[in-house]
Amino acid sequence: MPIAHKIKRYMEGASWIRAMFEEGIRLKQQYGEDQVSDLSLGNPVMEPPPAFYETLRRLLQDPAPGMHRYMPNAGYAETRAAVAAQLAKETGVAFTAEHVVMCVGAAAGISVALKTLLDPGDEVVIFSPYFVEYLFYVDHQGGTATIVPTDAQFDLDLEALDAALTPRSRVVLINSPNNPTGVIYPATTLKHLGELLRRKERQFNTTIYLLSDEPYKKLIYGGLTYPEVYAHHPNSLSVTSHAKDLALPAERIGYIAVNPECDDLDDLLGGLSFATRTLGFVNAPALMQRALVSLQGVTVDMGEYERKRDFLCDNLTAMGYQLVKPQGAFYVFPKTPGEDDVAFVQALQEKHILTVPGRGFGRAGHFRIAYCVEDRTLERAMDGFRAVAKEFGMG
Ligand SMILES: Cc1ncc(COP(=O)(O)O)c(C=O)c1O
Repeated sequence: MPIAHKIKRYMEGASWIRAMFEEGIRLKQQYGEDQVSDLSLGNPVMEPPPAFYETLRRLLQDPAPGMHRYMPNAGYAETRAAVAAQLAKETGVAFTAEHVVMCVGAAAGISVALKTLLDPGDEVVIFSPYFVEYLFYVDHQGGTATIVPTDAQFDLDLEALDAALTPRSRVVLINSPNNPTGVIYPATTLKHLGELLRRKERQFNTTIYLLSDEPYKKLIYGGLTYPEVYAHHPNSLSVTSHAKDLALPAERIGYIAVNPECDDLDDLLGGLSFATRTLGFVNAPALMQRALVSLQGVTVDMGEYERKRDFLCDNLTAMGYQLVKPQGAFYVFPKTPGEDDVAFVQALQEKHILTVPGRGFGRAGHFRIAYCVEDRTLERAMDGFRAVAKEFGMG
């Protein structure tokens, strides 16, 4: 066996998303690009905003001496200050540069946070359905994942959480807007979550960190205001990335923001910086950090995604699909007629529509559609969705 058994097992078992993405490549080669609707991956269709290219041109025309040298592991002071100022404006929390650690996208940010917080065997609560990579991040950093289901509307089930928390619980990981459901946790849920965590901290005499994964924070619809976590739990930190809001997933840039009210703040910030270096990231990409200084508050046009959501959800509902209408991100997670979500996804595949079975996210009986695609790709899929709905007796 050339590689570790565990990694081999993970690779075989877990990635439905990648498997469907690769199936998409195969189908496109066989039938042609325009014959396949690949709705399997959250790869944004949009290009970055013009301000991104203008900033890059400016930076490259006038390169600062030493701009390619090593930097502090937490990132450039100027970038961290710009991020903190924007974040303070958006949240009303007194963030300064020292509360911000730049990271190599949200994936790295979560890994760095877990590395900093977990002792071997510490527990991390994850809500299902979940972004499947969480399981690997937790395991890689020596933790144990405790899965807690969300309710029928995919909101947090705080009674279930209450029952799941133990003296070994170290981190509660939430994701809002959510992948795969598109749900945003309301402020009242976050308030009750904070109360529960503080009660449990007192009961166990421990610290339980609320880690909020927010790569879709700017992708919210219907004029909603994003419910922030910081006011609800002092021991909270968020991880954000510009993969979606600036459409830069390949550039690997994001940040961790630590609540200034956190216990043992200096240790935590020092730990995040140390983990960034020693996990091998060393620092977030320099050119992207420099660009971010002048891109605070800039995003892609979210109206486009809202339009796609409405088109898709209205059509699916009319065909008989049952779904919770997403309030953010670019995914929807409808029910399948029976528990066998794999059979349903395979029936869609026969119609050249690629989606991901719910069991890939820890919740069978559903499937995920990523609608961050061209309009024509969505439009083309409608006949197939309708035919499969009929075949399975929906509506
Ligand atoms: C919920 C969630 N968290 C984290 C990530 C990772 O984001 P990044 O590409 O910034 O590492 C993703 C990517 O799709 C995601 O959906």
